[in-house]
Amino acid sequence: MIISGACHYFRTHPDQWRTRLHWLRLMGLDTVETYVPWNLHEPSRGEFRFDGIADLELFLRLAAEEGLGVILRPGPYICAEWDNGGLPSWLTGRTGLRLRTSDPGYQAEVERWFGELLPRVLDHLETRGGPITMVQVENEYGSYGSDTTHLEWVRDLLVEQGIDVPLFTSDGPEDFMFTGGTVDGARATANFGSRPAEAFAELRRHRPDDAPFCMEWWNGWFDHWGDTRHTRDASEAASVLDEMLTMGASVNLYMAHGGTSFGVTAGANYEPPGAVAGGSFQPTVTSYDYDAPLDERGAPTPKFHAYREVIARHRDVPALEEFDEPLLPETTLLGEGTVVPLAGVFDVLAAAGREVTAPGPLSFEELGLSHGLVRYRATVRGPRTALPLSVDGLADRAQLVIDGRVEHVFDRNHPTTYDLEVPASGRTIDLIVESMGRVNYGRLVGERKGITGAVLHERQEVHGWAMTPLELGELPDLSGVGEIAGDGAGFRTFTFSASAPGDSYLDLSGWGKGYAWVNGFGLGRYWSVGPQLSLYVPRPVVVPGLNTVVLLELDDVGAAAPVLRPERVWR
Ligand code: GLA
Repeated sequence: MIISGACHYFRTHPDQWRTRLHWLRLMGLDTVETYVPWNLHEPSRGEFRFDGIADLELFLRLAAEEGLGVILRPGPYICAEWDNGGLPSWLTGRTGLRLRTSDPGYQAEVERWFGELLPRVLDHLETRGGPITMVQVENEYGSYGSDTTHLEWVRDLLVEQGIDVPLFTSDGPEDFMFTGGTVDGARATANFGSRPAEAFAELRRHRPDDAPFCMEWWNGWFDHWGDTRHTRDASEAASVLDEMLTMGASVNLYMAHGGTSFGVTAGANYEPPGAVAGGSFQPTVTSYDYDAPLDERGAPTPKFHAYREVIARHRDVPALEEFDEPLLPETTLLGEGTVVPLAGVFDVLAAAGREVTAPGPLSFEELGLSHGLVRYRATVRGPRTALPLSVDGLADRAQLVIDGRVEHVFDRNHPTTYDLEVPASGRTIDLIVESMGRVNYGRLVGERKGITGAVLHERQEVHGWAMTPLELGELPDLSGVGEIAGDGAGFRTFTFSASAPGDSYLDLSGWGKGYAWVNGFGLGRYWSVGPQLSLYVPRPVVVPGLNTVVLLELDDVGAAAPVLRPERVWR
């Protein structure tokens, strides 16, 4: 019987991995489970990254030191509310590829990536004295497709590359999911939140020889911008855990510690038309707290204690310790808490310089941009009377700027038009397009960002575009951009002083929509629609003394300097 918990190394600052793993063990777990996100490790084709928050081998060594086994889920598709379900946008932006199938173009890239990744994990397999006990083939393939040949190909690739610990698949407990998602030579497991007896009965019908294993026990849930926050009652959840352990089933808590989708790494969902009129794009919030037993900063919650008690009924659990991860002591806003404008976003885009021209608008992927903003500029010829301007194929949001002023905001979920009148001399329009998360589940995985269709004036396509991209995965270089005098959408900064590092939450209530960095570390996206109103600031990014916060505020909602709080703020 395995009692495991999911904790994604890529959602926790690496300096905090050790304590997170320690607390998982104190809860009574014997194993930690993690995905591996391809797009984190290969941000551009052929350029691999295994350092810092991408140092998978360090995470594996720390797990082993803590005495935890590891369940590894290398995908390469991982879902996980992670941008594009972990697939790199430079890959999915290629036209004609059939993702997650036997398409030779897709498989060649997977083979290249696994050829880079798998040799790094071989020494960490249990068969070589390491912690990895099981490795997953793909992820919930039955929720997606029925190309069994591809699933077999992924399985064989893992084996050929030297993975000699047990393989498994995981799927929702539905007939069609098990029939599409399971493969010979890999144990089948089930993903669900409640009613374990029914789910395991379904699993048994399909795989009578596979012992019951809940690979994703959804004991909490994630949140979308503009929606209400999801929580699950601790004692109700604990009783389901008890039910599973009493049956002798193995379980992986999804999540045991959720963490944060820092920077621009959060994913999104999409409800197809039929479920919602016109379909609906639902970007996922920055926090991946998941209402898990260890909260976003790693502190034990009532769920932690409830689960630990349940586990103690089934096996010995380690003695509890005090949780002593420091909270940020009193901070002082410097400069009387004044928020200083750094640079207007239009000026930054103008100074970015990397302008590309084309007759029609290009997508972010065609521009080689992962996430951020693109200024699309074109001149509409006149004279013409006021006619509706619309954006067909928008991902995800566009501010229409005319003569330096935001005149309208286009939103992919609520298509609108703007009446544009053009004088004889013509009119130059700018569309500042922002991407939110890439869809990580369902049909739209791999969709392109930016303007993927056309900008229409009445029925006529506007042609002759100049595009300037601004990457927001890292804090852009703002040197050389003139300071702006007043307000306006743009970068702002303020400083605070801390006597010692500690965890905190940057309270952005009162601000509009944007991005935040502390000492250059990308905390993630914020948005007044909630439900998340504060961003987690991990202790290791705070330094004693002077600390600098940069905000990119897109909606020009100015407010006082945000305060760092010891508690999270949810709507
Ligand atoms: C599925 C996926 C996970 C995650 C959960 C929801 O089960 O396999 O990666 O997306 O849904 O949190």
